[in-house]
Amino acid sequence: MTARLSLRQPAQVDAAAILGILSNPSVVQHNPSDLVEELQDVETLVRHWQGHWERHGFGNCCVFEEKTGRLVGNCGVRWMTIHGDRVLNLMYRFHPSAWGQGYATEAAEALLQWAQEWLPAELVVARIRPTNLASQKVATKIGLRRHPAFDDQGEDGVEWAFTKRS
Ligand SMILES: CC(C)(COP(=O)(O)OP(=O)(O)OC[C@H]1O[C@@H](n2cnc3c(N)ncnc32)[C@H](O)[C@@H]1OP(=O)(O)O)[C@@H](O)C(=O)NCCC(=O)NCCS
Repeated sequence: MTARLSLRQPAQVDAAAILGILSNPSVVQHNPSDLVEELQDVETLVRHWQGHWERHGFGNCCVFEEKTGRLVGNCGVRWMTIHGDRVLNLMYRFHPSAWGQGYATEAAEALLQWAQEWLPAELVVARIRPTNLASQKVATKIGLRRHPAFDDQGEDGVEWAFTKRS
């Protein structure tokens, strides 16, 4: 829960709203391999996110706008390995109708604080395409900094690492 948003574990009932985000060309402009166009593919993705929650007690969340109850995005942390090191990957992705209101910053900041409280000593890493300036802005606003040692090849090209030791 933040000032304007509530976050919770994803459920299958969220699949249609998530599809509305992941099938939007603007959303996947910098990460075209994230495009999802079929509901059943989102349902598979939700099961994957739920699996992480079941194993670790945290993971990618659905983000709801408090004033409308609308699902406006996804944001979360999950374990991943980069160059042999286990890190906490911070992800955020919102529907374009919700952009420009500080929602991504608000949600990502809350999750970073959560990681700092519950998983101190872990490295939080946002993986961002060099052209994705809005995402880089969010990362630096919450205190993440460029950390080229964790740059990595992603499905859509090089992913720049922005990190903070929690
Ligand atoms: C990145 C994303 C989550 C940002 O969502 P948002 O709710 O608009 O973010 P915020 O409002 O919290 O902050 C965005 C900041 O980027 C800035 N910004 C937006 N578009 C920009 C652009 N094209 N170039 C530079 N800065 C930009 C905004 O002005 C704002 O900064 P400010 O607070 O100093 O004005 C959203 O654009 C998105 O979902 N994109 C598609 C998915 C994605 O790329 N996710 C990240 C994957 S690494």
